Amino acid sequence: MAFASFILSALLLQFSLGCNALEILDNNHNNVVKPKEDPDYDPSLHVFFKVTDLYLGKRMPIYFASNDDSTPTHLLSKTQADSIPFSSSKLPYLLEYFQFSNSSSQAKAMETTLRQCELKSIGDEFKRCVTSLESMMDMTQEFFGSVKPKVLTTKILSSNHTLYQNYTLVEKPLEVNTSEMVACHTMAYPYMVYYCHGHKGHMTRIFKLALGGDNNERIESISVCHKDTSMWDADHVAFRLLGGYPGSGPVCHVIPIDNLVWVA
Ligand SMILES: *[C@@H]1O[C@H](CO)[C@@H](O)[C@H](O)[C@H]1NC(C)=O
Ligand SMILES: *[C@@H]1O[C@H](CO)[C@@H](O)[C@H](O)[C@H]1NC(C)=O
Ligand SMILES: *[C@@H]1O[C@H](CO)[C@@H](O)[C@H](O)[C@H]1NC(C)=O
Ligand SMILES: *[C@@H]1O[C@H](CO)[C@@H](O)[C@H](O)[C@H]1NC(C)=O
Repeated sequence: MAFASFILSALLLQFSLGCNALEILDNNHNNVVKPKEDPDYDPSLHVFFKVTDLYLGKRMPIYFASNDDSTPTHLLSKTQADSIPFSSSKLPYLLEYFQFSNSSSQAKAMETTLRQCELKSIGDEFKRCVTSLESMMDMTQEFFGSVKPKVLTTKILSSNHTLYQNYTLVEKPLEVNTSEMVACHTMAYPYMVYYCHGHKGHMTRIFKLALGGDNNERIESISVCHKDTSMWDADHVAFRLLGGYPGSGPVCHVIPIDNLVWVA
């Protein structure tokens, strides 16, 4: 079956990419795994800063995960996606389909992704997992209605990317004026899956940052600042990195490469 071999050839997905970041970003939801990692030992946790850090000339260490060549980079078509079940109840079938042993790290990652996608959204948060281009388009239409949304991404503008280094804001941060946004995070899965969540009302501020690395690398980063952190876990790694406590002030983070931020 041509499609199965296509899927299998795309299989060596880097299952670790983005997982940490996602868990961190969604840690304000009690039912998501809480990061207990120590920022002193795990550079990938260095994705947070304060809104008061956003000025020309500010220098701070930031971790930008990057894809390797084996990471799937395209959404499937709806026909392709619909031919494969997407449900934790079908996990044994899926593990067989993708030829993962059920004790493998891939199996664990798939289960985590499926369960995350099956969680009910909390309060008035909008939440959807997207497995195809068509479902991405349906999702944006459902959220934004007749308004045509724009997509923002973080872009690495140099070829010599270093995962973790100090970056300097080389231009004045540019605020994106929007009251509605949906952020879509890539999930660890054998094909491309986005976990999208968003809200209406001014809960976040979005900034475009022009960053220059110590190695002269250039990154155009999209960053999101959460105005209200009062529902976040007191143990959240952002507070360990920046100080503060739930509700003590806005917390910002960079949007990883390959994640999408839809704005009105
Ligand atoms: C692995 O899957 C098989 C078939 O579904 C099941 O019988 C077995 O108990 C599973 N093993 C583990 C360790 O979960
Ligand atoms: C960033 O710069 C500070 C101060 O110059 C330095 O102590 C720190 O080790 C640097 N961090 C990285 C990741 O290079
Ligand atoms: C943002 O957009 C709204 C509505 O278009 C406008 O009223 C407001 O002045 C804008 N704010 C900024 C800071 O540009
Ligand atoms: C990285 O790339 C930038 C821009 O292409 C260049 O100016 C810089 O010298 C490079 N740095 C290293 C360490 O190769």
